[in-house]
Amino acid sequence: MALQTNGIVVKNERIKPLYFLLTIYCPSMAIEIKTGQFIMLKVSDSHFPLLRRPFSVYKSYPTGHPDKKKSGCLLILYKKVGKGTQKMTEFKKGQKVNMIGPLGNGFSLPPLPFSNDIILIGGGVGIVSLYSLAEVLKSQKLFVFMGGKTKDDILCEEDFKKLNVSKMFTATEDESLGYKGTVIDLFLYQKKRFKWNKPLYIYCCGPVEMLKELARVVKFKGVVCQASFEARMGCGFGACWGCVVKTNDPKTPYQRVCKEGPVFNLKDIVWE
Ligand SMILES: Cc1cc2nc3c(=O)[nH]c(=O)nc-3n(C[C@H](O)[C@H](O)[C@H](O)COP(=O)(O)OP(=O)(O)OC[C@H]3O[C@@H](n4cnc5c(N)ncnc54)[C@H](O)[C@@H]3O)c2cc1C
Ligand code: FES
Repeated sequence: MALQTNGIVVKNERIKPLYFLLTIYCPSMAIEIKTGQFIMLKVSDSHFPLLRRPFSVYKSYPTGHPDKKKSGCLLILYKKVGKGTQKMTEFKKGQKVNMIGPLGNGFSLPPLPFSNDIILIGGGVGIVSLYSLAEVLKSQKLFVFMGGKTKDDILCEEDFKKLNVSKMFTATEDESLGYKGTVIDLFLYQKKRFKWNKPLYIYCCGPVEMLKELARVVKFKGVVCQASFEARMGCGFGACWGCVVKTNDPKTPYQRVCKEGPVFNLKDIVWE
């Protein structure tokens, strides 16, 4: 059940020109949040910007974690894109921040242990929610695809290395790192290395255009493809219907990213 609570900023550091890592001490949230869920963060004490902003939790350390400095904390990795995230860059150590969460339905896991490969595909900051999933799935055969416009948009590489994932692939559109092209181009290029004749799980998160392209190229027979959507949100908890996607469910064709999502089966989405 979602709660509204205050956390205390522990650290807010720039890690790349446009990316910041925010550590918040909030034991009640750190223990509750599951991979793929999100929080709505109040970014300002004033009325501007009025609306909270949605963020995945990159890492969470429930109370009792052996590293005492991290115990009770959650980490948000965010990109400065506009007025709300600009405000976040001004968060100072010791400051109170209000949040609502955990919100939404997270990723469903395959039956574990899973014998075939599991593929994670993240575009830009979308890789953040996949990292928390990889932590849960770390003893499986994980193949991670990450992409961005430039090398500065490639995130969490070192963390994935520490998880000993089977293989990581990187794509940048300007060729500053790895394969030249989008992460979906790269995935297509590498597609034949996977065993498509057995059940396969793909998890992805990124801009809508990326998810749409993935839906176009994946044959869903025998493949479970779960996608986390980055819709713009008003309330974040199902009241305003400002975040809907169209699905092929005849009973509820329009579903809320914040409530029924943010994770959907990609084969259920109707692209308009
Ligand atoms: C479930 C979920 C999890 C998310 N997790 C993260 C995360 O872990 N890290 C992170 O950096 N961001 C994440 N986002 C995106 C983040 O919420 C937006 O970047 C943020 O709300 C932008 O606020 P702003 O006021 O700075 O931008 P605004 O001033 O509101 O907008 C600036 C620009 O960003 C675009 N934009 C704003 N919000 C979104 C959005 N939700 N999706 C796509 N484009 C948008 C606008 O179209 C505009 O071009 C997540 C979004 C969702 C829905
Ligand atoms: S943001 Fe209000 S219903 Fe989803």
